[in-house]
Amino acid sequence: MQLDRDDERVLAGEFGETRQRLMELLVGLGTVFGAERLVPIASAQVSGASYKTIGDWGLEWLSSLDARAVVPAVLNPVGMDLERWHEMGIDPAFAKKQEQVVEVYRRLGIRLECTCTPYYLSMTHYGDHLAWSESSAVCYANSAIGARTNREGGPTALAAALVGKTPFYGLHLVENRRPTVVVEVEGAPAAPDGGWYGALGVLAGREVGAGCPFLRGIRPTRDGLKSLGAAMAATGAVALFHVDRITPEARVFPFETEGLETITFGAEEIEAVWSDLPVEAVAIGCPHCSEEELVRVAELLVGKRTTKPLYVFAARRVIAAHPAEVATIERSGARVYADTCMVVSPALERYGAVMTNSGKASAYMPSMCGAAARLATLEDCVAEATS
Ligand code: F3S
Repeated sequence: MQLDRDDERVLAGEFGETRQRLMELLVGLGTVFGAERLVPIASAQVSGASYKTIGDWGLEWLSSLDARAVVPAVLNPVGMDLERWHEMGIDPAFAKKQEQVVEVYRRLGIRLECTCTPYYLSMTHYGDHLAWSESSAVCYANSAIGARTNREGGPTALAAALVGKTPFYGLHLVENRRPTVVVEVEGAPAAPDGGWYGALGVLAGREVGAGCPFLRGIRPTRDGLKSLGAAMAATGAVALFHVDRITPEARVFPFETEGLETITFGAEEIEAVWSDLPVEAVAIGCPHCSEEELVRVAELLVGKRTTKPLYVFAARRVIAAHPAEVATIERSGARVYADTCMVVSPALERYGAVMTNSGKASAYMPSMCGAAARLATLEDCVAEATS
């Protein structure tokens, strides 16, 4: 790899041992993937934040680092709401470890937004180079915004945050952002919600794997793009997709799709992903709710009472911007939690089956929480929790 003078100085240890070690990690990664150089990044998003997923080994490794982020860097959801963890029924021993993890990230200069939707909080621009690691955030940044990031691991995103650069390979290069497969959707409803796009994403991700799909026959809103990408990133390893005439690069580049394999899904096949599995709880907000979704949940809950636990997850700043809606939701008996989610928190491990409007959560809950998952629309989720 071609390193500039500053990179060489970091590698030589002039800016401390931590940056030296992390630069070695980035250079090693870049060498493996054939990167010619490093590229400066606009921001980093760092996963590996829940004590549930990183455990003592992760905490020990993080504690060994001594440097501060040199670019804006935000943390992924952790294992509990940092203010209301008692209410979530979190074990105090877990909470203590989680607080230690958070404290280490604070010391490293990572902003404790604790969200997988950092694109709601700060401007990320078309063409920006990023080092983001949560798979749904990566998919959204690449696809809905037209920014450029590989699907980083937690350590490499953190290394990029502390060094300010990432290896220039993969999705940072325009030539690797072309579609590799066409997905035709037939009979899409007029205004499908996130649950419908989650079901489409579950199916498409399984077929597409790590490819870059070009989707036709749908016109998703930004919440639809979020749900679709999150699910494709979970059941496949999709990090970038294009939607005909919707996503920025599909509007900028005359992508050639002739000759590509085409996979077709019909509405019936997509809706067959939904089931009528009996559930004990309902969870909304994977990825974290947008303002529009939070408002919609409140509208659906006006004058209702929950009959089973209903969890809603969103970034703390999104929650703070909507006190009236949050009050309406909580008046029903539901709870709105920040900093965490249904998958990375141990809170939902107590249920045998959970209903969700998230294709991604439906894919991960069985292995991450030991709970069977039932995917449905947002309306059906609220109806189930209040029936
Ligand atoms: Fe976000 Fe947790 Fe889902 S990190 S994408 S809400 S699994």
